Amino acid sequence: MSDKLKIPTHLGIIMDGNGRWAKLRGLKRTKGHEEGAKVAENVIEWASDMGIRYLTLYSFSTENWKRPKEEVTFLFSLMVRYLESRLNKIIRENVRVRFTGRIDELPENVYNVCKRIEEKSKNNTKIDVILAVNYGGRREIVDAVNKLISQNVNKITIEDISNNLYLPDVPDPELIIRTSGEIRLSNFLLWQSAYSELYFTKTLWPDFNKEELEKAIIDYTKRDRRFGSISSDEGSV
Ligand code: IPE
Ligand code: IPE
Ligand code: MG
Repeated sequence: MSDKLKIPTHLGIIMDGNGRWAKLRGLKRTKGHEEGAKVAENVIEWASDMGIRYLTLYSFSTENWKRPKEEVTFLFSLMVRYLESRLNKIIRENVRVRFTGRIDELPENVYNVCKRIEEKSKNNTKIDVILAVNYGGRREIVDAVNKLISQNVNKITIEDISNNLYLPDVPDPELIIRTSGEIRLSNFLLWQSAYSELYFTKTLWPDFNKEELEKAIIDYTKRDRRFGSISSDEGSV
């Protein structure tokens, strides 16, 4: 890759299409999730090598509870299996694993594994891998507002909300990628995505690869981020 690329500090990914990938092959949806988990592991390595500092992976939304119980149970057991078996690698690769979302509402064994990995990796500094689990953007904003109410704040500012999100130290994502051809955010980082660049690809998540990631970053590099202002090369009126 050219070194002229702008590497986002924070990349968010909506990893979508596992079910359709499996269905196309006559496999069970769970097989799609298995393959998807392998891709997520690879993406962590590629993102880390590229110098991305924060990577948020949308893993389970507050709406995903609507899925059949067996699928929900499978997703959590897959996550636990990965986190436990990769702990040594996480430490060796200097990866800090964090969570965003209401993990306190997860089954106790899942919650305990999340907390243990978070604690064990908390001093790692190469990349923060943030797993969005039982995460919903609306819920996060409501939780922030309720936290402020409980502190008797009677007039809320933009900064108040930003400072009371689940991970207030994490900068907003410059780029959000969604796979599988769906062109929506599905409740992902609603507050933080106000000025994020969005990149959509039809590729199903289990087929996502390094070339696709680089393509998204190259596309992002060419975007003119104006933040409501005018281009710096447009001069004065
Ligand atoms: C994304 O793949 C994984 C999760 C939402 C947990 P899906 O399971 O949503 O796959 P599709 O959208 O049904 O193909
Ligand atoms: C978004 O995908 C959630 C995750 C990737 C974890 P969904 O598959 O749940 O989103 P919708 O239902 O297509 O909007
Ligand atoms: Mg989906």
